[in-house]
Amino acid sequence: MTARAFVVGHPIRHSRSPLIHGHWLAEHGLAGTYERLDVAPDDFAAFFRALPASGFAGGNVTIPHKEAAFRLADSLTERAKKIGAVNTLIVEGGRVRGDNTDAPGFIAHLDQSLGEGWPERTGGTALVLGAGGAARAIVVGLVERGMRVRVANRSPERARALAELDPGHVEALAWEAVPAALSETGLLVNTTSLGMAGHPPLALDLAPLPERAAVADIVYVPLETPLLAAARARGLAAVDGLGMLLHQAVPGFFAWFGLRPEVTPELREKIVADLVAR
Ligand SMILES: NC(=O)c1ccc[n+]([C@@H]2O[C@H](COP(=O)([O-])OP(=O)(O)OC[C@H]3O[C@@H](n4cnc5c(N)ncnc54)[C@H](OP(=O)(O)O)[C@@H]3O)[C@@H](O)[C@H]2O)c1
Repeated sequence: MTARAFVVGHPIRHSRSPLIHGHWLAEHGLAGTYERLDVAPDDFAAFFRALPASGFAGGNVTIPHKEAAFRLADSLTERAKKIGAVNTLIVEGGRVRGDNTDAPGFIAHLDQSLGEGWPERTGGTALVLGAGGAARAIVVGLVERGMRVRVANRSPERARALAELDPGHVEALAWEAVPAALSETGLLVNTTSLGMAGHPPLALDLAPLPERAAVADIVYVPLETPLLAAARARGLAAVDGLGMLLHQAVPGFFAWFGLRPEVTPELREKIVADLVAR
């Protein structure tokens, strides 16, 4: 039987997920489909309830449905429970399981870009800028890899709420305190929308970062954000946001189509070409 999967969001036109999964289906000669579904928020609960009888093996969930999917899922992985949002659904035995693969996606990309010893090399300390949905997943992923994490956000209450996730390993920092904290930071991660096309850049002087530090940005339009350009100019390791998008797709593909795909340079080039073309 042909396995079917989807990405659901509203709007959904921008999603690169069909390109990613379509690449893997073609690469492995699998007779599956991966469809783009535009479902408005008012219709999402009905869409979700119809899933077990829909013939879909599962799918990805994107903005604005990640929290609704979390509430509606019949069961959740431990990671999804911690993050409070779901981006991957697996339909099995008439039930829908919710997972969140953003955290392992971000970490797998760091492993691939920096080598697996990055937690030690960066001194085990990360500073995460931003406290939105993506930041939550990234903080969970970093703590799982043994990092001590500081979170700074323009709206301080969101940083404090994120720190409460794991007070033993995560601490909230005032947004104004970021420049002074850089000298003690081994991994700087931007999860704000600053630096994204159409948004102002993240104005931060990276000079105080230690020489061993790495800088990651999860914004991937543009691929080379001003923050990453500044990190490279200082000779620091710079990790772009596209890899997280590619790696977060791996567990879903494995669950629906039964084969663990790889994030290859060919796949990356295909998505980069699409980013440049749009
Ligand atoms: N690479 C990937 O796979 C991937 C995955 C998910 C998201 N992303 C990208 O990550 C970014 C955040 O996504 P999200 O889902 O976490 O969004 P979100 O929940 O809306 O959070 C946005 C974050 O940006 C901060 N922010 C926005 N404007 C700001 C400004 N002018 N100054 C300082 N902080 C500002 C917000 O701070 P406040 O709380 O103060 O508003 C908040 O922390 C987006 O650019 C998105 O495209 C990438």
